[in-house]
Amino acid sequence: MKSNLDKATDFEKRFENVDTVIFENSKKASKEVAKEIANLIKVKQSQKQPCILGLATGSSPKGLYAELVRLHKEEGLSFKNVITFNLDEYYPMEPDSVNSYVRFMKELLFDHVDMIPENYNIPDGTLSKDEIAAYCANYEAKIEALGGIDLQILGIGGNGHIGFNESGSLQNSKTRLVALDHITRVAASKDFSGLNNTPRTAITLGVKKIMEAKRVILLAWGEGKSNIIRASVEGQVTNQVPASFLQEHNNAVFVLDKEASSKLTRINTPWLVEKIIWTDKMVRKAVLGLAMHLKKPILMLTDADYIENGMSDLLADSGPAYDINIEIFNKLQNTITGWPGGKPNADDSKRPERAEPAKKRVLIFSPHPDDDIISMGGTFIRLQQQGHEVHVAYQTSGNIAVADSEALRFASFVCDYNEKFGIQSPDAGKIYQKAIKFLENKKASEIDIPEVRYIKGLIRKGEARSTAHYVGLPDSQIHFMELPFYETGAIEKKPMGEEDVKITMDLISQIKPHQIYAAGDLADPHGTHKVCLDTIFEAVKRLKSEKFMDDCWLWLYRGAWQEWGVDEIEMAVPLSPDQVLEKRFGIFKHQSQKDGVVFQGTDSREFWQRAEDRNRETAEIYDQLGMASYAAMEAFVRWKY
Ligand code: F6R
Repeated sequence: MKSNLDKATDFEKRFENVDTVIFENSKKASKEVAKEIANLIKVKQSQKQPCILGLATGSSPKGLYAELVRLHKEEGLSFKNVITFNLDEYYPMEPDSVNSYVRFMKELLFDHVDMIPENYNIPDGTLSKDEIAAYCANYEAKIEALGGIDLQILGIGGNGHIGFNESGSLQNSKTRLVALDHITRVAASKDFSGLNNTPRTAITLGVKKIMEAKRVILLAWGEGKSNIIRASVEGQVTNQVPASFLQEHNNAVFVLDKEASSKLTRINTPWLVEKIIWTDKMVRKAVLGLAMHLKKPILMLTDADYIENGMSDLLADSGPAYDINIEIFNKLQNTITGWPGGKPNADDSKRPERAEPAKKRVLIFSPHPDDDIISMGGTFIRLQQQGHEVHVAYQTSGNIAVADSEALRFASFVCDYNEKFGIQSPDAGKIYQKAIKFLENKKASEIDIPEVRYIKGLIRKGEARSTAHYVGLPDSQIHFMELPFYETGAIEKKPMGEEDVKITMDLISQIKPHQIYAAGDLADPHGTHKVCLDTIFEAVKRLKSEKFMDDCWLWLYRGAWQEWGVDEIEMAVPLSPDQVLEKRFGIFKHQSQKDGVVFQGTDSREFWQRAEDRNRETAEIYDQLGMASYAAMEAFVRWKY
């Protein structure tokens, strides 16, 4: 498989025990995988043979299926000779349920190509327990009778599972009923409205049949997968990481985007792989990495430390260690500022922000209604206290993350209130009555009716407004954008649309900010942050020629799930213990997101706890590297457009 980005030689890939190909992004990668599948289908057609494909579900193959559909519709690729076997299905599961893999496959692929319906096979989630063993044996026998799987597509779980072969699965495991790991269930819980409704078991193709496939292509996208990819590709073969079994397959490839590959040795620490050209960025990354690895302050690193850790050529080029240390120390020191909007009347040649204008217009974009306070609450408060004109813009309504019980509570409140005080508002009354009726009869995973979504959105709006008031903003500086891409009522969002960009451009043009803050978080589990960021990038690109944009700097903070690497940080805003508490109370305004939120992710801490841990950890890293000691720090990267 070819990638324009990844031209690494075998020597450079020597830490990797299985073939890996890295693409610029998942779209380009999916296209390339689709091309390989299309070629195989055509070769089989010319041989008058069926093409046996093993298929996966989940978020990873979605782009691939979209491309296969395109190849069918626009380039006439026929699927008449294709026979498919899906890896797995939840158990129990009705095929027409919203979360069934049957439905997933039909909606994303089967219904849009000319496949013969009898030719697709997906484990049956409706069997009784005592029918399963025979059914599974038969599933395997059917594959064998067709000569085995020609090409198997896989995703990878956070624990390294392939199919639903969780950690601990044997390399010769058969197709069977399995219990799902907690981490797998947590990842799936977003589709099932919470962990309690998430299945505990599934039927999965065993590792043995996967290993017998003639070709295996594993897809992984995003930073969230980077650690498990490294373990699977460079680590030992172990049943704790079932994807590592693929190291022993003779025709397997891991297809990655840049983010998923970011922890591979050749990407993360390329100087350990071959001689490199030491750019400033690379020196900073290597030196800070060395200091953290050795748990030493930067200024305590010695020549021997450099030499013994694969950095002797850097030392030869720019050493001795003392000189390199000083340079990196100063650079890191200069990222720290208590003046995120710039320090008036101060020399700003080494500060992250400009001193002028002393009073800046600031626009903070918050993808969900609580990202502003969770991710940059301390900076938000400081900017306001230091007299800047701070605006906050909530990009989406965030309505999907409100529990039904919350919506019911608010709807009943309005109805009871109206009844008690005899308030006659027939239309409003109807909305709330309808919502209550719907919620009381709602089936698991049913999509909310617009009235319920509206109530859920109102709840989050109230919370966001309350935080912004707490920080000290007047209503005129609080903006609710309600970007249309988000309003599907389902987990699956629409792609960025023209209207989203227009709303964003209008707001930026109206405020003419000197600073924009945006969530640069690509690890958000359901992709909303990514669309929100793309919308801002697009808006900024289109506005670039406007005069006011010459003075507009774009700062990226990270969302709730991850922090910037210390080598990337360009502005670090320290928080005192009191400021940490102040931020915590700001986060508390988001009551609907406390105590077991709908989208917990794989982390069971509440948002305020995550925020505090993360900000404390950043401060601890700075401290360990030899900087001043602070209670907490918020970190930013400047995006030059
Ligand atoms: C799905 C499957 C799973 C997923 C894995 C990754 O059929 O077998 O192994 O491939 O959980 O899921 P995503 O792609 O959603 O990250």
